[in-house]
Amino acid sequence: MFWLAPFLLFQLQQPLDIPAANPHTTAADIEQGRRLYMGRCAGCHGPTGDGGKGANLASPTLSRAAEDRALYRIIRYGIPDTEMPGSLMDSLELWQTAAFVRSLGRVAVTPVTGNAANGAQIFRTKGACLGCHAMGAEGGRTGPPLAGIGGRRSATHLRAKIENPAADVPHTFRLVTLTTKAGKTLRGIRLNEDTFSIQLRDFSGNPHSVWKDEIAQFSSEKKTNMPAYKGRLTEAELNDLVAYLANEKGAQ
Ligand code: HEC
Ligand code: HEC
Repeated sequence: MFWLAPFLLFQLQQPLDIPAANPHTTAADIEQGRRLYMGRCAGCHGPTGDGGKGANLASPTLSRAAEDRALYRIIRYGIPDTEMPGSLMDSLELWQTAAFVRSLGRVAVTPVTGNAANGAQIFRTKGACLGCHAMGAEGGRTGPPLAGIGGRRSATHLRAKIENPAADVPHTFRLVTLTTKAGKTLRGIRLNEDTFSIQLRDFSGNPHSVWKDEIAQFSSEKKTNMPAYKGRLTEAELNDLVAYLANEKGAQ
C-alpha cells in the first residue's frame, strides 16, 4: 500500500481531473469564499468585484471564465503577463472563492450610464486622449495602450484614473530623470527596466535604453504626466468616456 501514498498526495495537490462545475456552492461555501476573497482579491478587484484595478468580476458572464473549470484555473494559476497572480490555496478554498466570485455576478452593480458613442468622440476630440494613448493602430505612446482596457479594468477604476490620475500611479510609466556618467541628462517615462538597463521614452517621443552602470544620478517620481480631467470635462462627458472605455473589451 505504501506505493500509493505519493500518488495520492500528488492528487491532493494537483487535481488531475478538475470537475467542469463547481462542487462546493452551498451558502457556507460562499461565506468562506467571501472571507478568502476579502483577504486575497478585494485589494485589486474591490470588495464588490467592480471597484478595483482588476477586471470587473461583478458580471453574470466572465470573458475568460465562462465555465467554472476555467474560473478555478484562473484563480489557481493567474493570467500570464498580466497583474492577475496565481494563488496557493487548496482545491476546496479555490472552489469556495470561485463560488463567491460567481455570487458577485448575481448582485446588481452600478450600471455604466454614459453614451459610449459620445465617449468615443470625446476621446478623440476634447479629451485628446489619442495624443498619449494608442487605441488600436492610432494614437501616441506616452501612456499605455488602451485597446481592451474595459476587459482589464473596472469602470470605477477607469473613472478614478481619468478624474485624478495622480492618486494611483503604477511602477512602470513613472517619470524618471537620469544623468549619465558622460554628463547627459534624460527625462521621460519609464517603459521597462531589467537588472542591467532601463528603457524610457523622452517627451519628444524618442525611446532610449541606458546601461545602469553608465548612470551617475537617477530619480524616479511617483508622478504621472496624465492630466486630471475632473473639471476639464463635464460630468456627462466623463460618464460617456467611461462608458466608451468600459465597452472597449478588445479582441483578446
Ligand atoms: C494584484 C492584483 C490582483 C489580485 C490580487 C487578483 N487579481 Fe484577478 N485580475 C487582476 C487583473 C489586472 C485582471 C485582468 C487581467 C487581464 O485580462 O488583463 C484579473 C482578472 C481576473 C479574472 C478574469 C476575469 C474575466 O473577465 O474573465 C478573474 C476571474 C479574477 N481575476 C479573479 C481573482 C480572484 C478570485 C482573486 C483572489 C484569489 C484575484 N483575482 C486576485 C488583478 C488581480
Ligand atoms: C499627456 C499624456 C496623457 C494624456 C493626454 C492622457 N493620458 Fe492617460 N495616461 C498617461 C500615462 C503616462 C499613463 C500611465 C501612468 C498612470 O497610470 O498615471 C496613463 C494612464 C491611463 C489609464 C490607466 C491605464 C491602466 O492600465 O490602468 C487610463 C484608463 C487612461 N490613462 C485614460 C486616459 C483618457 C481617457 C484620456 C483622455 C481623456 C487620457 N488618458 C489622456 C498619459 C496621458
